[in-house]
Amino acid sequence: MAEGNRRRIVAGNWKMHGARAALEALASGLAARPANPSESAPEVAVFPPFPYLSAVKRALEAGQAEGGIAVRMGAQDVSAHTEGARTGEVSAPMLADCGCRYVLVGHSERRASCGETDEQVARKFVRAASESLIPVLCVGETLGERNAGRTAEVVLRQLEAVLERVGAGGFGTAVLAYEPVWAIGTGQTATPEQAQEVHAVLRAAIARADAKIAAALRILYGGSVKGANAAALFAQPDIDGGLVGGASLDLKDFWRIITA
Ligand code: 13P
Repeated sequence: MAEGNRRRIVAGNWKMHGARAALEALASGLAARPANPSESAPEVAVFPPFPYLSAVKRALEAGQAEGGIAVRMGAQDVSAHTEGARTGEVSAPMLADCGCRYVLVGHSERRASCGETDEQVARKFVRAASESLIPVLCVGETLGERNAGRTAEVVLRQLEAVLERVGAGGFGTAVLAYEPVWAIGTGQTATPEQAQEVHAVLRAAIARADAKIAAALRILYGGSVKGANAAALFAQPDIDGGLVGGASLDLKDFWRIITA
């Protein structure tokens, strides 16, 4: 268990991978794993593509009904608006309606390829939280920014954009994810020490506003987490679990991470 009695989360971001049958099978396989009543068992969540949310939810519930583990679900993005003429967007109430508990906001792939700004990410965070979803705010630096010694500056800027709007109270239920862009999908994981250093910087920034909320805040690491490196990462005092991409599509490896 992470420090401060924070319950670890292991979350699988399935990105734009798979198709209905494969993702249903993955969800069923995961939810068929025997439930672990131990208090130190992590919370498990998956983030399927939008069209498969309902199918995955059904598969997860069916597994749990037969004695398998509880797996929560989240979406990979959310609109900053509640409803209206917004072609292609998906609102927070729709996600809640489909059984989502979590939603990623500000994933680096959306910041990079969809041009999402800190300001837009902050608005999505606010919208998700106001609809009872738990936002998972993703922050992280590029390789160029790291090499220029700007890691802390970049992640703090991304965090501050949200903190300014919601205050420390907004992080009472939210989750933070540190995902160095250079480690995503590259096989090049941040070392446990590199990740810990940034997690500590993030927690300290929240602590300046509210020490109690900071101590309870769960900060996940994402970026080439695998069965083989998860335990060393999760052993760090400020790392409270993982946001896993590629390895979450492989049931065996994802389970190794969950049980790390
Ligand atoms: P990988 O685990 O494939 O590096 O992806 C990490 C990620 O982006 C999770 O959101």
